[in-house]
Amino acid sequence: MIQVISDVLTPDELKRFRELLGQAQWQDGRATAGHVAVRAKANEQLSHDDPLGQQLSEFLLERLGKISHFIAAALPLKVLPPRFNRYTGGGSYGDHIDNAIFSVPGAGARIRGDLSSTLFLSDPDDYDGGELIIQGEFARHQFKLPAGQMILYPASTFHQVTPVTRGARLAAFFWTQSLVREHSRRALLFELDNTIQALAQDSPEQPAVARLTGLYHNLLREWSQT
Ligand code: NI
Repeated sequence: MIQVISDVLTPDELKRFRELLGQAQWQDGRATAGHVAVRAKANEQLSHDDPLGQQLSEFLLERLGKISHFIAAALPLKVLPPRFNRYTGGGSYGDHIDNAIFSVPGAGARIRGDLSSTLFLSDPDDYDGGELIIQGEFARHQFKLPAGQMILYPASTFHQVTPVTRGARLAAFFWTQSLVREHSRRALLFELDNTIQALAQDSPEQPAVARLTGLYHNLLREWSQT
């Protein structure tokens, strides 16, 4: 299941993010790539201990906690603090699958990356290329989203970023460990959740709404790990 999450940041917030990131201390992204990914990766990132990066990361983490579409689709248990990257001058990231386990900087904790997310920060008209291509089960999906929109997709999929041949592509990226590890079960819960919401809107007094809500929670109880 791939989801596009809209309106993660407002236009004013995006402007501020781009201004601050324009003055940031960018580093070669290969410093944090695994030994296979390092050959495919050509971008820049902020170091995990960069004060500006940490400040923006905390802001985003707090925001994510308020976005019901993200919560319902990801069922997050742990979210790795978002990082920031920039692609310019032909930079790209070849086809790869993300690492499974991430250390939380400074916390000694580890997160299993069930879901990958990319929040687009640049206006798509400001750069050429830079599409995120995700290999789905039956097709390749291509995304170049408006600034402020985020893509949420299974971390187990092959994906790539095509070369940015003009301008700069700024993005935030992070991984989420979900309460429900299996993508198929999480997708079923999300569909059930959406169905209950639709039903509750049409006929909130209908007893079936409470019964379905109970069913949702009992399934979550069966399938979640904390
Ligand atoms: Ni990746």
